[in-house]
Amino acid sequence: MRILPILSLALSCVSATILENGQPRLDPYPGQARLLKSGLDDAWKTFEPDAEEISYKGRWDEQHISWWSAPGVKFAFTGQKLALSFGEHTVNGVLVAYRLGGQDWQFANVTANDAYQFVGPWTTGVNLTEATAPKTFELRVTNWAYGYLAGVSVAHNASIHKIDPFPKMVEVIGDSLSSGDFATYEGLSSWAYLFAAGLGNVEYHLTAYPGVCLHDQNCWGNPRGQSYQWYRTSDTSPRAAEIYGEDPPKWDFEAQQPADLVVINLGTNDNNIANNVSAADYYNDYIELVGNIHEIWPEAQIVLMSLWGGFSASGITYAQGPLFVEEIRDVYEYFQAQGDFVHYFDTTGILQHNDIAPQWHPTDVGHVKAAAHFMQWVKIKFGWEMEATGPMVHSGTLYWNDQDIY
Ligand SMILES: *[C@@H]1O[C@H](CO)[C@@H](O)[C@H](O)[C@H]1NC(C)=O
Ligand SMILES: *[C@@H]1O[C@H](CO)[C@@H](O)[C@H](O)[C@H]1NC(C)=O
Ligand SMILES: *[C@@H]1O[C@H](CO)[C@@H](O)[C@H](O)[C@H]1NC(C)=O
Ligand SMILES: *[C@@H]1O[C@H](CO)[C@@H](O)[C@H](O)[C@H]1NC(C)=O
Repeated sequence: MRILPILSLALSCVSATILENGQPRLDPYPGQARLLKSGLDDAWKTFEPDAEEISYKGRWDEQHISWWSAPGVKFAFTGQKLALSFGEHTVNGVLVAYRLGGQDWQFANVTANDAYQFVGPWTTGVNLTEATAPKTFELRVTNWAYGYLAGVSVAHNASIHKIDPFPKMVEVIGDSLSSGDFATYEGLSSWAYLFAAGLGNVEYHLTAYPGVCLHDQNCWGNPRGQSYQWYRTSDTSPRAAEIYGEDPPKWDFEAQQPADLVVINLGTNDNNIANNVSAADYYNDYIELVGNIHEIWPEAQIVLMSLWGGFSASGITYAQGPLFVEEIRDVYEYFQAQGDFVHYFDTTGILQHNDIAPQWHPTDVGHVKAAAHFMQWVKIKFGWEMEATGPMVHSGTLYWNDQDIY
Protein backbone atom coordinates (compact mmCIF):
# COMPACT_ATOMS: atom_id res chain seq x y z
CA MET A 1 0.00 0.00 0.00
CA ARG A 2 1.38 3.38 -0.92
CA ILE A 3 1.27 5.93 1.84
CA LEU A 4 1.90 9.55 1.16
CA PRO A 5 4.82 10.98 3.09
CA ILE A 6 4.16 12.70 6.35
CA LEU A 7 5.97 15.96 6.39
CA SER A 8 7.09 16.92 9.83
CA LEU A 9 9.04 20.01 9.10
CA ALA A 10 10.51 22.11 11.82
CA LEU A 11 9.20 25.61 11.42
CA SER A 12 11.35 28.28 12.88
CA CYS A 13 9.28 31.28 11.84
CA VAL A 14 6.47 32.67 13.93
CA SER A 15 3.33 33.87 12.27
CA ALA A 16 0.86 36.16 13.94
CA THR A 17 -2.04 34.66 12.01
CA ILE A 18 -3.99 31.74 13.40
CA LEU A 19 -5.82 29.97 10.62
CA GLU A 20 -9.00 27.98 10.85
CA ASN A 21 -9.63 25.77 7.84
CA GLY A 22 -7.42 28.09 5.83
CA GLN A 23 -9.20 31.31 6.88
CA PRO A 24 -7.89 33.72 9.49
CA ARG A 25 -9.54 32.85 12.81
CA LEU A 26 -11.85 35.51 14.22
CA ASP A 27 -10.50 36.76 17.54
CA PRO A 28 -7.46 34.44 17.52
CA TYR A 29 -6.00 35.81 20.73
CA PRO A 30 -8.72 36.22 23.32
CA GLY A 31 -6.79 37.83 26.15
CA GLN A 32 -4.05 39.73 24.33
CA ALA A 33 -1.72 40.91 27.10
CA ARG A 34 -1.09 44.66 27.40
CA LEU A 35 2.37 45.89 26.60
CA LEU A 36 3.68 48.11 29.40
CA LYS A 37 5.29 50.64 27.11
CA SER A 38 7.08 52.59 29.77
CA GLY A 39 8.09 49.48 31.71
CA LEU A 40 7.37 48.74 35.35
CA ASP A 41 7.15 51.64 37.80
CA ASP A 42 7.06 51.49 41.59
CA ALA A 43 3.39 50.57 41.64
CA TRP A 44 4.82 47.11 40.89
CA LYS A 45 6.90 44.68 42.90
CA THR A 46 9.12 42.47 40.74
CA PHE A 47 10.49 39.00 41.42
CA GLU A 48 13.50 37.56 39.64
CA PRO A 49 12.86 34.49 37.49
CA ASP A 50 14.71 32.29 39.98
CA ALA A 51 12.31 33.18 42.82
CA GLU A 52 11.56 29.93 44.63
CA GLU A 53 7.82 30.64 44.46
CA ILE A 54 7.84 30.17 40.67
CA SER A 55 7.48 26.56 39.49
CA TYR A 56 8.78 25.77 36.03
CA LYS A 57 6.96 23.10 34.03
CA GLY A 58 8.66 21.16 31.27
CA ARG A 59 12.26 21.89 30.30
CA TRP A 60 13.76 25.29 31.05
CA ASP A 61 17.46 25.98 31.24
CA GLU A 62 19.42 27.89 33.86
CA GLN A 63 18.77 31.18 32.10
CA HIS A 64 15.00 30.49 32.25
CA ILE A 65 14.75 29.88 28.54
CA SER A 66 12.06 27.34 27.66
CA TRP A 67 12.53 24.37 25.34
CA TRP A 68 10.39 21.68 23.73
CA SER A 69 6.59 21.67 23.69
CA ALA A 70 4.19 23.54 26.01
CA PRO A 71 6.66 24.47 28.75
CA GLY A 72 5.18 26.69 31.42
CA VAL A 73 5.30 28.48 34.75
CA LYS A 74 2.88 28.34 37.64
CA PHE A 75 2.51 30.20 40.93
CA ALA A 76 -0.13 31.95 42.97
CA PHE A 77 -0.29 35.71 43.56
CA THR A 78 -2.31 38.17 45.57
CA GLY A 79 -3.67 41.49 44.42
CA GLN A 80 -5.41 42.13 41.13
CA LYS A 81 -2.64 42.67 38.68
CA LEU A 82 0.20 40.66 37.27
CA ALA A 83 2.85 41.36 34.65
CA LEU A 84 5.55 39.16 33.13
CA SER A 85 8.75 40.32 31.47
CA PHE A 86 10.33 38.46 28.59
CA GLY A 87 14.05 38.29 27.92
CA GLU A 88 16.13 38.68 24.80
CA HIS A 89 15.87 35.09 23.57
CA THR A 90 12.10 35.29 23.33
CA VAL A 91 11.11 34.87 19.70
CA ASN A 92 9.07 37.89 18.63
CA GLY A 93 5.39 37.16 18.42
CA VAL A 94 5.56 33.93 20.38
CA LEU A 95 2.11 32.80 21.38
CA VAL A 96 1.53 32.10 25.06
CA ALA A 97 -1.55 30.73 26.78
CA TYR A 98 -2.36 31.77 30.32
CA ARG A 99 -5.16 31.67 32.82
CA LEU A 100 -6.30 32.17 36.36
CA GLY A 101 -7.24 28.98 38.23
CA GLY A 102 -9.41 26.78 36.04
CA GLN A 103 -10.76 29.64 33.92
CA ASP A 104 -10.60 29.42 30.13
CA TRP A 105 -7.16 29.74 28.57
CA GLN A 106 -6.41 33.21 27.24
CA PHE A 107 -3.91 33.73 24.42
CA ALA A 108 -1.42 36.49 23.82
CA ASN A 109 1.63 37.06 21.65
CA VAL A 110 4.64 38.72 23.21
CA THR A 111 7.95 40.21 22.13
CA ALA A 112 11.50 40.09 23.49
CA ASN A 113 12.73 42.54 26.14
CA ASP A 114 9.23 43.75 26.98
CA ALA A 115 6.93 43.56 29.98
CA TYR A 116 3.26 42.69 29.50
CA GLN A 117 0.40 42.97 31.90
CA PHE A 118 -1.51 39.69 31.80
CA VAL A 119 -3.90 40.25 34.66
CA GLY A 120 -5.85 43.41 35.44
CA PRO A 121 -9.41 44.39 36.34
CA TRP A 122 -10.50 43.20 32.87
CA THR A 123 -9.29 39.62 33.33
CA THR A 124 -11.82 36.80 33.42
CA GLY A 125 -12.02 35.44 36.96
CA VAL A 126 -10.12 38.27 38.64
CA ASN A 127 -13.04 39.25 40.83
CA LEU A 128 -14.03 35.73 41.83
CA THR A 129 -11.80 35.75 44.90
CA GLU A 130 -10.80 38.38 47.46
CA ALA A 131 -7.83 40.49 46.37
CA THR A 132 -5.91 39.17 49.34
CA ALA A 133 -6.54 35.49 48.49
CA PRO A 134 -3.76 33.88 46.39
CA LYS A 135 -4.93 33.11 42.85
CA THR A 136 -3.28 30.46 40.70
CA PHE A 137 -1.65 31.75 37.54
CA GLU A 138 -0.37 29.41 34.86
CA LEU A 139 1.30 30.25 31.58
CA ARG A 140 2.29 27.86 28.81
CA VAL A 141 4.34 28.63 25.74
CA THR A 142 2.12 27.19 23.03
CA ASN A 143 4.90 26.84 20.49
CA TRP A 144 8.06 24.89 21.08
CA ALA A 145 11.15 26.67 22.27
CA TYR A 146 10.34 30.32 22.15
CA GLY A 147 9.92 31.54 25.70
CA TYR A 148 12.31 33.32 28.02
CA LEU A 149 11.06 34.52 31.39
CA ALA A 150 12.82 37.57 32.79
CA GLY A 151 10.59 38.49 35.72
CA VAL A 152 7.23 38.32 37.44
CA SER A 153 5.62 41.50 38.77
CA VAL A 154 2.64 42.03 41.04
CA ALA A 155 1.14 45.01 42.86
CA HIS A 156 3.60 46.75 45.21
CA ASN A 157 1.79 45.43 48.30
CA ALA A 158 1.07 41.93 46.92
CA SER A 159 2.97 38.64 47.08
CA ILE A 160 3.56 35.44 45.14
CA HIS A 161 3.35 31.89 46.48
CA LYS A 162 4.56 28.48 45.49
CA ILE A 163 2.02 25.90 44.36
CA ASP A 164 2.74 22.28 45.24
CA PRO A 165 3.16 20.07 42.18
CA PHE A 166 0.64 17.37 41.35
CA PRO A 167 1.66 13.96 42.66
CA LYS A 168 2.20 12.26 39.31
CA MET A 169 4.46 13.05 36.36
CA VAL A 170 4.00 12.19 32.70
CA GLU A 171 6.81 12.35 30.17
CA VAL A 172 5.96 12.32 26.46
CA ILE A 173 8.83 11.75 24.03
CA GLY A 174 7.80 12.66 20.52
CA ASP A 175 8.00 14.68 17.34
CA SER A 176 5.62 17.05 15.54
CA LEU A 177 2.69 14.71 16.11
CA SER A 178 3.02 15.12 19.88
CA SER A 179 3.88 18.81 19.81
CA GLY A 180 0.74 19.84 17.93
CA ASP A 181 2.44 21.01 14.74
CA PHE A 182 -0.20 22.59 12.46
CA ALA A 183 -2.92 22.27 15.11
CA THR A 184 -4.69 25.49 16.10
CA TYR A 185 -2.76 26.31 19.27
CA GLU A 186 0.17 23.98 18.60
CA GLY A 187 1.31 22.46 21.92
CA LEU A 188 -1.98 23.34 23.60
CA SER A 189 -3.92 21.51 20.89
CA SER A 190 -1.71 18.40 20.89
CA TRP A 191 -2.92 14.97 22.03
CA ALA A 192 0.01 14.93 24.45
CA TYR A 193 -1.13 18.07 26.29
CA LEU A 194 -4.82 17.10 26.06
CA PHE A 195 -4.04 13.72 27.58
CA ALA A 196 -1.97 15.02 30.48
CA ALA A 197 -4.05 18.12 31.20
CA GLY A 198 -7.18 16.03 30.83
CA LEU A 199 -6.04 13.75 33.65
CA GLY A 200 -5.99 16.93 35.72
CA ASN A 201 -3.72 15.86 38.57
CA VAL A 202 -0.47 15.18 36.76
CA GLU A 203 2.53 17.25 35.85
CA TYR A 204 3.78 16.81 32.30
CA HIS A 205 6.92 17.26 30.28
CA LEU A 206 6.27 17.13 26.53
CA THR A 207 9.73 16.48 25.16
CA ALA A 208 8.63 16.64 21.57
CA TYR A 209 9.88 18.66 18.63
CA PRO A 210 8.73 18.85 15.00
CA GLY A 211 10.66 16.79 12.47
CA VAL A 212 12.88 14.96 14.93
CA CYS A 213 13.79 11.29 14.40
CA LEU A 214 14.50 8.64 17.02
CA HIS A 215 17.72 7.75 15.21
CA ASP A 216 20.52 10.23 15.74
CA GLN A 217 20.78 11.86 12.35
CA ASN A 218 19.67 15.02 10.61
CA CYS A 219 15.94 14.78 9.92
CA TRP A 220 14.11 17.66 8.29
CA GLY A 221 16.84 20.03 9.41
CA ASN A 222 16.98 18.81 13.02
CA PRO A 223 20.69 18.10 13.44
CA ARG A 224 20.27 15.34 16.04
CA GLY A 225 17.76 12.60 16.81
CA GLN A 226 16.00 11.91 20.12
CA SER A 227 18.55 9.13 20.82
CA TYR A 228 20.84 12.06 21.61
CA GLN A 229 18.63 15.09 22.18
CA TRP A 230 16.22 13.67 24.73
CA TYR A 231 19.06 13.65 27.27
CA ARG A 232 19.66 17.38 26.69
CA THR A 233 17.87 20.39 28.11
CA SER A 234 17.34 22.11 24.79
CA ASP A 235 15.57 20.88 21.67
CA THR A 236 16.87 20.72 18.10
CA SER A 237 15.82 24.23 17.06
CA PRO A 238 18.04 26.79 15.32
CA ARG A 239 17.64 28.90 18.48
CA ALA A 240 19.25 26.12 20.51
CA ALA A 241 22.13 25.90 18.05
CA GLU A 242 22.60 29.68 18.34
CA ILE A 243 22.69 29.62 22.13
CA TYR A 244 24.48 26.32 22.79
CA GLY A 245 26.27 25.41 19.57
CA GLU A 246 26.94 21.69 19.35
CA ASP A 247 27.12 20.96 23.05
CA PRO A 248 23.78 21.65 24.72
CA PRO A 249 23.64 21.08 28.49
CA LYS A 250 22.61 17.65 29.75
CA TRP A 251 19.14 17.53 31.29
CA ASP A 252 19.38 16.88 35.01
CA PHE A 253 16.87 14.07 35.44
CA GLU A 254 17.86 13.69 39.10
CA ALA A 255 16.74 17.22 39.90
CA GLN A 256 13.23 16.57 38.58
CA GLN A 257 10.11 14.94 39.86
CA PRO A 258 10.49 11.39 38.48
CA ALA A 259 8.17 10.29 35.70
CA ASP A 260 5.49 7.74 36.60
CA LEU A 261 4.37 7.26 33.02
CA VAL A 262 6.51 7.68 29.90
CA VAL A 263 4.87 7.66 26.47
CA ILE A 264 6.93 7.31 23.31
CA ASN A 265 5.58 8.28 19.91
CA LEU A 266 8.65 8.37 17.67
CA GLY A 267 9.54 7.00 14.26
CA THR A 268 7.21 8.73 11.83
CA ASN A 269 10.11 10.86 10.66
CA ASP A 270 12.59 7.96 10.70
CA ASN A 271 10.20 6.09 8.43
CA ASN A 272 9.92 8.89 5.89
CA ILE A 273 11.78 8.48 2.60
CA ALA A 274 13.32 11.89 3.16
CA ASN A 275 15.23 10.40 6.10
CA ASN A 276 15.28 6.64 5.44
CA VAL A 277 16.29 5.30 8.83
CA SER A 278 16.61 1.52 8.49
CA ALA A 279 14.31 -0.79 10.43
CA ALA A 280 17.35 -2.24 12.21
CA ASP A 281 18.64 1.16 13.36
CA TYR A 282 15.17 2.14 14.49
CA TYR A 283 14.68 -1.07 16.46
CA ASN A 284 18.10 -0.89 18.11
CA ASP A 285 17.72 2.76 19.06
CA TYR A 286 14.27 2.06 20.47
CA ILE A 287 15.59 -0.79 22.64
CA GLU A 288 18.36 1.46 23.92
CA LEU A 289 16.01 4.38 24.66
CA VAL A 290 13.57 2.20 26.61
CA GLY A 291 16.44 0.60 28.53
CA ASN A 292 17.83 4.01 29.45
CA ILE A 293 14.43 5.34 30.52
CA HIS A 294 14.04 2.32 32.80
CA GLU A 295 17.42 3.04 34.32
CA ILE A 296 16.57 6.72 34.88
CA TRP A 297 13.10 6.02 36.28
CA PRO A 298 12.95 2.38 37.42
CA GLU A 299 9.40 2.81 38.72
CA ALA A 300 7.96 4.32 35.52
CA GLN A 301 5.49 2.55 33.26
CA ILE A 302 6.69 2.98 29.67
CA VAL A 303 4.14 3.01 26.88
CA LEU A 304 5.11 2.44 23.26
CA MET A 305 2.49 4.20 21.16
CA SER A 306 2.00 2.69 17.73
CA LEU A 307 2.51 5.06 14.80
CA TRP A 308 -0.79 5.75 13.07
CA GLY A 309 0.98 6.72 9.85
CA GLY A 310 -1.06 8.12 6.98
CA PHE A 311 -4.14 7.35 4.97
CA SER A 312 -4.33 6.77 1.28
CA ALA A 313 -7.06 6.16 -1.26
CA SER A 314 -7.77 2.45 -1.56
CA GLY A 315 -10.40 1.37 -4.08
CA ILE A 316 -13.60 3.17 -3.19
CA THR A 317 -12.47 4.02 0.37
CA TYR A 318 -9.34 4.97 2.34
CA ALA A 319 -6.87 2.78 4.17
CA GLN A 320 -4.60 3.46 7.12
CA GLY A 321 -0.91 2.69 6.77
CA PRO A 322 0.62 2.43 10.26
CA LEU A 323 4.43 2.58 10.38
CA PHE A 324 7.13 0.35 11.90
CA VAL A 325 4.39 -1.95 13.22
CA GLU A 326 6.57 -5.03 13.59
CA GLU A 327 9.54 -3.14 14.96
CA ILE A 328 7.53 -1.54 17.77
CA ARG A 329 5.86 -4.87 18.60
CA ASP A 330 9.32 -6.44 18.68
CA VAL A 331 10.61 -3.81 21.11
CA TYR A 332 7.58 -4.53 23.28
CA GLU A 333 8.20 -8.30 23.11
CA TYR A 334 11.87 -7.83 23.90
CA PHE A 335 11.08 -6.21 27.24
CA GLN A 336 8.39 -8.67 28.31
CA ALA A 337 11.09 -11.00 29.64
CA GLN A 338 12.37 -8.24 31.94
CA GLY A 339 9.29 -7.37 33.93
CA ASP A 340 6.03 -5.58 33.45
CA PHE A 341 7.06 -1.99 32.81
CA VAL A 342 6.73 -1.79 29.01
CA HIS A 343 3.28 -1.55 27.42
CA TYR A 344 1.93 -1.23 23.90
CA PHE A 345 -0.83 1.21 22.98
CA ASP A 346 -2.28 0.48 19.57
CA THR A 347 -3.61 3.63 17.89
CA THR A 348 -4.92 1.76 14.84
CA GLY A 349 -8.49 2.76 14.04
CA ILE A 350 -8.62 5.79 16.34
CA LEU A 351 -8.08 8.21 13.48
CA GLN A 352 -9.74 8.11 10.07
CA HIS A 353 -8.50 9.76 6.91
CA ASN A 354 -10.27 13.07 7.55
CA ASP A 355 -8.72 13.37 11.02
CA ILE A 356 -5.49 14.23 9.23
CA ALA A 357 -5.13 17.85 8.11
CA PRO A 358 -3.73 18.92 4.71
CA GLN A 359 -0.24 19.19 6.22
CA TRP A 360 -0.23 15.51 7.27
CA HIS A 361 -0.80 16.07 10.98
CA PRO A 362 -3.94 15.40 13.02
CA THR A 363 -6.67 18.01 12.95
CA ASP A 364 -7.70 19.42 16.32
CA VAL A 365 -10.39 16.74 16.40
CA GLY A 366 -7.82 14.07 15.56
CA HIS A 367 -5.76 15.16 18.56
CA VAL A 368 -8.84 15.05 20.79
CA LYS A 369 -9.62 11.50 19.64
CA ALA A 370 -6.10 10.25 20.26
CA ALA A 371 -6.01 11.89 23.70
CA ALA A 372 -9.46 10.68 24.71
CA HIS A 373 -8.75 7.05 23.79
CA PHE A 374 -5.38 7.11 25.48
CA MET A 375 -6.81 8.60 28.69
CA GLN A 376 -9.40 5.88 28.92
CA TRP A 377 -6.78 3.20 28.26
CA VAL A 378 -4.50 4.61 30.98
CA LYS A 379 -7.43 4.68 33.39
CA ILE A 380 -8.29 1.03 32.74
CA LYS A 381 -4.70 -0.17 32.55
CA PHE A 382 -3.12 1.71 35.45
CA GLY A 383 -6.10 2.88 37.46
CA TRP A 384 -5.35 6.56 36.95
CA GLU A 385 -8.43 8.71 37.44
CA MET A 386 -9.54 11.57 35.24
CA GLU A 387 -9.49 14.39 37.72
CA ALA A 388 -10.03 17.42 35.52
CA THR A 389 -13.76 17.60 36.03
CA GLY A 390 -14.50 21.13 34.96
CA PRO A 391 -11.63 23.45 34.04
CA MET A 392 -10.95 24.15 30.40
CA VAL A 393 -8.57 21.66 28.84
CA HIS A 394 -9.07 22.15 25.11
CA SER A 395 -9.17 25.67 23.69
CA GLY A 396 -10.56 26.88 20.42
CA THR A 397 -12.90 24.02 19.57
CA LEU A 398 -16.22 25.26 20.82
CA TYR A 399 -18.27 24.11 17.83
CA TRP A 400 -21.96 24.42 18.43
CA ASN A 401 -25.24 24.87 16.66
CA ASP A 402 -28.29 26.44 18.26
CA GLN A 403 -30.65 26.08 15.36
CA ASP A 404 -33.19 23.41 16.18
CA ILE A 405 -34.95 23.17 12.84
CA TYR A 406 -33.30 22.82 9.42
C1 LIG B 1 0.24 39.88 17.76
O1 LIG B 1 -1.02 39.53 17.23
C2 LIG B 1 -1.69 40.59 16.59
C3 LIG B 1 -3.06 40.08 16.17
O2 LIG B 1 -3.84 39.85 17.31
C4 LIG B 1 -0.89 41.08 15.40
O3 LIG B 1 -1.55 42.19 14.82
C5 LIG B 1 0.51 41.48 15.87
O4 LIG B 1 1.29 41.77 14.76
C6 LIG B 1 1.15 40.34 16.64
N1 LIG B 1 2.40 40.79 17.20
C7 LIG B 1 3.50 40.11 17.05
C8 LIG B 1 4.71 40.70 17.66
O5 LIG B 1 3.55 39.05 16.45
C1 LIG C 1 -13.90 43.51 38.54
O1 LIG C 1 -14.39 44.50 39.41
C2 LIG C 1 -14.04 45.82 39.02
C3 LIG C 1 -14.49 46.76 40.14
O2 LIG C 1 -15.84 46.55 40.41
C4 LIG C 1 -14.67 46.14 37.67
O3 LIG C 1 -14.30 47.43 37.24
C5 LIG C 1 -14.19 45.14 36.65
O4 LIG C 1 -14.82 45.32 35.40
C6 LIG C 1 -14.45 43.71 37.13
N1 LIG C 1 -13.82 42.78 36.21
C7 LIG C 1 -14.43 41.76 35.64
C8 LIG C 1 -13.60 40.91 34.68
O5 LIG C 1 -15.58 41.46 35.84
C1 LIG D 1 -2.68 47.57 47.91
O1 LIG D 1 -2.57 48.88 47.42
C2 LIG D 1 -3.69 49.32 46.68
C3 LIG D 1 -3.40 50.72 46.16
O2 LIG D 1 -2.20 50.71 45.42
C4 LIG D 1 -4.94 49.31 47.56
O3 LIG D 1 -6.06 49.67 46.78
C5 LIG D 1 -5.12 47.93 48.12
O4 LIG D 1 -6.20 47.93 49.03
C6 LIG D 1 -3.89 47.46 48.84
N1 LIG D 1 -4.09 46.07 49.20
C7 LIG D 1 -3.72 45.63 50.39
C8 LIG D 1 -3.96 44.15 50.63
O5 LIG D 1 -3.23 46.31 51.23
C1 LIG E 1 15.15 6.69 0.56
O1 LIG E 1 14.85 5.49 -0.10
C2 LIG E 1 13.99 5.62 -1.22
C3 LIG E 1 13.65 4.21 -1.72
O2 LIG E 1 14.79 3.43 -1.82
C4 LIG E 1 14.66 6.49 -2.26
O3 LIG E 1 13.80 6.69 -3.35
C5 LIG E 1 15.01 7.84 -1.64
O4 LIG E 1 15.71 8.64 -2.54
C6 LIG E 1 15.84 7.65 -0.39
N1 LIG E 1 16.00 8.94 0.26
C7 LIG E 1 17.16 9.39 0.71
C8 LIG E 1 17.14 10.72 1.40
O5 LIG E 1 18.18 8.77 0.57
